[in-house]
Amino acid sequence: MTDPVALWHRQSGTAVLLDGFHALKHAVRFRAEVLVAVTADRAAALALADELAPDVRDTLAALLTEVPHATYASLVPRTHPTAVAALAVRPSRAGHLERLARTPRTAPVVVLDHPRNLGNAGAVIRLAAGFGATGVVTTGTLDPWHPTVVRGGAGLHFATAVERLTAGELPPGPVFALDPEGEDIRGTKLPDDALLAFGSERSGLSPELRARADHLIALPMRPMVSSYNLATSVAMTLYHWSATGGAPA
Ligand SMILES: C[S@@+](CC[C@H](N)C(=O)[O-])C[C@H]1O[C@@H](n2cnc3c(N)ncnc32)[C@H](O)[C@@H]1O
Repeated sequence: MTDPVALWHRQSGTAVLLDGFHALKHAVRFRAEVLVAVTADRAAALALADELAPDVRDTLAALLTEVPHATYASLVPRTHPTAVAALAVRPSRAGHLERLARTPRTAPVVVLDHPRNLGNAGAVIRLAAGFGATGVVTTGTLDPWHPTVVRGGAGLHFATAVERLTAGELPPGPVFALDPEGEDIRGTKLPDDALLAFGSERSGLSPELRARADHLIALPMRPMVSSYNLATSVAMTLYHWSATGGAPA
């Protein structure tokens, strides 16, 4: 049998870190290729699986190897309360680009224009997974596969197509850009093939994204409130799409 720690060290430079039981559970559900999975308490991890994820319990039992807590702690940047960690293969960019470009679409693509906050990006990927969005595209320098984003996404990067592109490389489809100066979203039906674009936390939509936008859409907000948080804006917009005809798969 392959030594899981040696395997971990061989793969950790390129693989995606799944930090904690829930990240591993989601990745397995959405067919990630898991290379190695360790836990400091196998009985506790499988008890969690029995309680929360009986659908993937047998797969987790086959994947998880118990190692001493000190060994587990040496493999991860910081320990997780569930003492579970795994490495998975990052899905191919070419496959994602093909999925993002394919039309007609049954669900929108979320575009984060120059996001800055890793936690926001993770929360958005989790939302996109929950609503069955086609993918999440980021522009700018933030890496949407950064370990902190993957942690925030709870392993749900594997449930949608996550890639970084330039504004000029965005997939086809009408761009509905979210901006407090836009038309009230309550009078708008968001089509399934839309690109739903959101500006950065600090400076809003970039000039390139504004130039590409077909529609500017606003979320209802009382006067004197400047803006909502990025991830909550995505949540409201995807909810609006789902409530006006779009539906999670
Ligand atoms: C924190 S806000 C950006 C605030 C920034 N200071 C600005 O000048 O726009 C991040 C993004 O969330 C979306 N957003 C926030 N509040 C919104 C609202 N009331 N209507 C539409 N979009 C909103 C926009 O896409 C915005 O660019």
